[in-house]
Amino acid sequence: MNMYDLIVKKKRGGTLAADEIRWMIRGYTDGKIPDYQMSAMMMAICFVGMSDEETKDLTLAMAKSGDMLDLSAIKGIKVDKHSTGGVGDKTSLVLAPLVASLGVPVAKMSGRGLGHTGGTIDKLESFTGFRTSLSTDEFIHNVNTIHIAVAGQTANLAPADKKLYALRDVTGTVDQMSLIASSIMSKKLASGADAIVLDVKTGDGAFMKNLEDSRALAQEMVSIGRLAGKDVSAVISDMDQPLGFAVGNALEVKEAIDTLRGKGPADLEELALVLGSYMAVKAGRASDVREAEEMLRESLLGGMAFDVFCRFIRAQGGDPKDARDPDRLPRARYREEALSPKTGYISDIATEEIGRICLLLGGGRQTKDSRVDLSVGLVLRKKKGDSVKEGESLAVIHAGDRALLKEAKRRLVQAYSFSEEKPDPVPLIKDII
Ligand code: URA
Repeated sequence: MNMYDLIVKKKRGGTLAADEIRWMIRGYTDGKIPDYQMSAMMMAICFVGMSDEETKDLTLAMAKSGDMLDLSAIKGIKVDKHSTGGVGDKTSLVLAPLVASLGVPVAKMSGRGLGHTGGTIDKLESFTGFRTSLSTDEFIHNVNTIHIAVAGQTANLAPADKKLYALRDVTGTVDQMSLIASSIMSKKLASGADAIVLDVKTGDGAFMKNLEDSRALAQEMVSIGRLAGKDVSAVISDMDQPLGFAVGNALEVKEAIDTLRGKGPADLEELALVLGSYMAVKAGRASDVREAEEMLRESLLGGMAFDVFCRFIRAQGGDPKDARDPDRLPRARYREEALSPKTGYISDIATEEIGRICLLLGGGRQTKDSRVDLSVGLVLRKKKGDSVKEGESLAVIHAGDRALLKEAKRRLVQAYSFSEEKPDPVPLIKDII
């Protein structure tokens, strides 16, 4: 077999056989197939697509490219959650401690930013000293003692996905259904959780821009998970505007902390409660989602979820004082308001563009070796359906560089659309599979 032939086969619309996929994934993981050939293959898949069979074979080959974690030393039903990626999506930071506060073992594997979307691991690094690289023993110990551990992909957990994720991030090859499904599910199969709740985003800020594609992605991931014996559900949620108001690593951590203290944006709280209820039911802590939601709400309002968050930050090397006083988190040098050019209602927000503005400011990676500036980003003042007056603030830009600040401001104003009539509200939860 050789990679050149496989690239050409896919480019011409062919179907890759299971042994070809296994050979390709092994060769890439071992460093025998170079990035440039794998980039060409990823791009061919973006144009040609993959069958369900190929997607399943790719998922299994990636899951088996490294260690399969054995979490049997953790008592109870272990639950994990994964988002397909969005703008301002800091849900895991709220959800993981919230669910853990009910005593549910949350064994979470998270990722870094991808394309125009952010990642939990980058966000958590806003806490000085925080470690996302945990040994299996430490991971198991933390879940057994404080019910929560959040780790990045270790070098040997689905290493093929780890390499491909970084490659896709900078080669414009993220937004393909089979690549997303296999990337997410390979990690989930390798990471040993018993139950998984998927947050499948839909809309302009998601990789799947319409509901039909998002449903297909959700179905694909649920069926791969079930084939592997996992209890999987998918919630399809709106990404036609950023979630909450903050976009950018440390800014999102601050908003997540506000939410854990009962003072967060309504959409973020709602999403955490919905996903959390499914996780709690799967773990056997509640008999139905209604009961689970009540328990979670109580924990949020009673401060229990925030206490777990502080314990979690300490257990992984961070300082919980940064959580109690988030002004200690990284802060950008410059802050400026972007002002509305019109009076009316906000009818639309170009959400992917908001994610790209954050990238422009340095909040994500332009190349595999880029360093992320954790302090930069934007905090929206106006969301869809809000009324606005000319000259009123649309958002505050947080930047480390004056020229970038100016460019970000120009693009942010253009990302907003206005109408004279108040637009109809859009539901946050679109479907549950
Ligand atoms: N999250 C992942 O882990 N992989 C993707 O491809 C998209 C979102």
